[in-house]
Amino acid sequence: MTLKQLKIIEPVAGDHNLPDYSEVRKDFKWEDAGADLSFKETGLLNMAHEAIDRHVDDGYGSKTALHYVNGDERISYTFKEVKDKTDHYARILKENGIVKGDRVFVFLPKTPECYIAILAAIKIGAVAGPLFEAFMEDAVRDRMNDCDAKLLITDKDMVERVPQTDIPSLETILYAEDIEAAPFREDGEEYTEWMEAEDGMLIHYTSGSTGKPKGVLHAHRVVTHQYESGKWVLDIKDDDVYWCTSHPGWVTGSVYGLFAPWLNRATVVIQGGRFKAEHWYKLIAELKVTIWYSAPTAFRMLLSQGDVLKDYDLSSLRHILSVGEPLNPEVIYWAWEALGVRIHDTWWMTETGAHLIVNLPGEKIKPGSMGRPFPGIEVGILDEAGEVVPRGTTGQLAVRTPWPGLMKEIWGNKDKFDSYFKYEGWYLSGDLAYQDEEDYVFFQSRDDDMINSSGERIGPFEVESKLIEHPAIQEAGVIGKPHAVRGEIVKAFIVLREGFEETAELLEEIRIFVRNNLAAHLAPKEIEVMDELPKTTISGKILRRELKQMEIEKSAVKHTL
Ligand code: WTA
Repeated sequence: MTLKQLKIIEPVAGDHNLPDYSEVRKDFKWEDAGADLSFKETGLLNMAHEAIDRHVDDGYGSKTALHYVNGDERISYTFKEVKDKTDHYARILKENGIVKGDRVFVFLPKTPECYIAILAAIKIGAVAGPLFEAFMEDAVRDRMNDCDAKLLITDKDMVERVPQTDIPSLETILYAEDIEAAPFREDGEEYTEWMEAEDGMLIHYTSGSTGKPKGVLHAHRVVTHQYESGKWVLDIKDDDVYWCTSHPGWVTGSVYGLFAPWLNRATVVIQGGRFKAEHWYKLIAELKVTIWYSAPTAFRMLLSQGDVLKDYDLSSLRHILSVGEPLNPEVIYWAWEALGVRIHDTWWMTETGAHLIVNLPGEKIKPGSMGRPFPGIEVGILDEAGEVVPRGTTGQLAVRTPWPGLMKEIWGNKDKFDSYFKYEGWYLSGDLAYQDEEDYVFFQSRDDDMINSSGERIGPFEVESKLIEHPAIQEAGVIGKPHAVRGEIVKAFIVLREGFEETAELLEEIRIFVRNNLAAHLAPKEIEVMDELPKTTISGKILRRELKQMEIEKSAVKHTL
């Protein structure tokens, strides 16, 4: 493996309020982490308290906690207002019989209510399950059934996609509109349930290559890791206006859209609506966003729109971060030239709870690398025997266990959980990477069939299972096909049943079938009909890797990394 010779970008003065990160790396200890959090002093732990109520107690109640922007709509709340609204939601959840440990799902668009509902569930000791707003009925049902959800908060616009049947555990569906309309009572009651470090807090459903999406459960102890990464990696200071573009149904949207910034008392921007370059730039200019966290797909779309950014004053931006998929060096050079700000790549996973590989603001950036291990984190590149390979050699990206953000369990699936820890003392990520002499880690690919489209993690099995429910389909194999802007797109190879003919209408009908039952981002963008699918001779399993290889050879798009 040859290391690419790319131009390194050194930090610039004025770009950040730069602390001396070499000292941070030397001095950081998990035992001392989270020193500002209140549970360190009181012994009373709850994520919602640390993220919101603590700031009100500390005299920051009148500080702006959020700006919500959707088209021409503008709403702002202070930390005190977020606390009051969270208490209001908490009271209604309690009145509906929710007790500590129950699973409460939140299926809402990116609105303040979505963030507040998640916090309220956590505040009263329930496990919050945020769902991506684009899910359709079956995707919602599967996830709620897997962990026996008891209550769902949604809104009336989404009601058609809310399963009303076949979820035996579900007792109540609440509409955000009704909660908003219910009279607010400032009764001074304390709704916070004090939790143990290992008590469940958040469940995110995420995909691998086999089986349906798995429920990754995080415990309240994750607070320390999320707080420290917000402090050092996001570099949040008191006057920052912080915008993460992800929906809380994805882990980036919950951890870095909500928890980490609020743990660090940032003013958080919530933006509804779809991607449009002009709207995004306008939002940054209007709200004077200083820290911006997004994904390579979005940056590539902005880059492809070229000069649009010249019409906006983006000089408030002092820090940009990226996550979710490989960040192309040309994107980093583009931002550096166009905005004078470096894009800092970050690597982590739903399972890891918070950042593990990062570019701290004051450190040099090597485009093509995801950065270096977060302080207190040890990365290992392992061979098949679980031994660490020499620097520069590609192997399995692993992380020394434990650390505070590491998931607590995979809901109801101990075998799956154990599979992450097959090498003693290591967490196995499923990514392949190499590390250079200066500890920088370079992502190479996934080691399994997981699809990464626009930074969204898609499991081929869920899509294949839905495809074969269609009457025309006998078999299906689903892969990620390389794509210049989205990284990968979902491509399905199918074998038709006897009596069905390949027509453009049928393929469109199949695409819509998946879109209407699962979600638009899970529907294959391309469908190819085959006479048979490649399979293993012994078990007859579909060889997705072979399908993917075929596609890569055919495809004109080459990954830059
Ligand atoms: C991929 C998202 C390249 C990786 C936070 C990982 C990345 C999976 C990067 C986790 C990055 C995440 N460069 N690939 N900076 N960050 N990935 O659980 O394959 O949705 O295993 O968490 O995204 O996806 P997840």
